[in-house]
Amino acid sequence: MGSRILVTGALGQIGTELVEALEEKYGQGSVIATDVREGNNCRILDVMDAAGIESLVRDESITEIYHLAALLSATGEKNPELCWKINVEGLENVIAAANTHGCRVFAPSSIAVFGPDCPSIAPQVTPLNPTTVYGKTKVVSEQLAMTTGVDMRGLRYPGLISYKAPAGGGTTDYAVEIFHAALTEGHYTCFVREDTRLPMMYMDDAIRATLELMEVPSEQLGGARGGYNISGCSFTAGELVASIQRHLPDFTCAYEPDIRQNYADSWPNDIDDEVARSEWGWVPEFDLDGMVDAMFAGLQA
Ligand code: NAD
Ligand code: SER
Repeated sequence: MGSRILVTGALGQIGTELVEALEEKYGQGSVIATDVREGNNCRILDVMDAAGIESLVRDESITEIYHLAALLSATGEKNPELCWKINVEGLENVIAAANTHGCRVFAPSSIAVFGPDCPSIAPQVTPLNPTTVYGKTKVVSEQLAMTTGVDMRGLRYPGLISYKAPAGGGTTDYAVEIFHAALTEGHYTCFVREDTRLPMMYMDDAIRATLELMEVPSEQLGGARGGYNISGCSFTAGELVASIQRHLPDFTCAYEPDIRQNYADSWPNDIDDEVARSEWGWVPEFDLDGMVDAMFAGLQA
């Protein structure tokens, strides 16, 4: 029997595109999209419902779980207890079902695992002392990948940029919102400073990295399996504005940093992804201008 795939949090920024990619790869009937919200072709599943996950995995003979349900950094800091519950207890419920039924699991990590003591270009192996509760939940996720006995894998996604679904409450959301504001208002008020440099990635690269990682034979993956560094492109908010102005020369941006500046300042500027490159051949395709061109092509289509 082929892959039978469960996606949690499927209506979010990543799920919207990952479900499409998984259906293309494995066939539409092989993918069960779920979320706590109602949506097209999506079943209701709350990842806090351990029994619900277990029965769905059993009844649908699930072989792989792509576990995307989570609260992101900005939403998580507003409600840290809920963030811990959904991100850690939700993951534990998924792992329990995977353990019982022999499923493989993909559970994303994030650049939020790093803290202020990380070098500005984050190495794969470095102390992980995040300041946000969201980052702490991702450190736990990476550790669980090494200790549960389940074949569980993860990527430390940079800030992801896409046009098919809105960004879901993270610190890097400005790099998505700015495109919509540029096209509708000709102006954006950015919630981080102009010189804020963060690791980012176009969604096509992130989806490809996810599919590629899940293809790799388990024995080929080393100690980074719970959270591989992957780099896409790193740029400041000001550099993003300049790249957008290649398409819209009259576009303007103001900078009014809020609390999310603190989270951004605690994260590295860039990512060293040598381990992912050497262990499973990771290579990004989109640089800043390539990503901006693809965003405009998608939004204007
Ligand atoms: P998102 O916020 O866009 O989507 C998350 C989805 O989870 C939402 O559709 C939401 O309704 C759902 N959800 C929330 N609580 C739930 C619950 N209790 N049960 C079931 N579903 C629930 O997030 P995303 O950007 O798609 O991120 C997916 C994963 O990737 C998360 O683990 C996130 O931490 C990680 N990640 C995302 C980024 C990024 O830039 N988007 C970067 C790094 C890591
Ligand atoms: N893009 C995510 C956030 O800003 C990083 O995990 O929360």
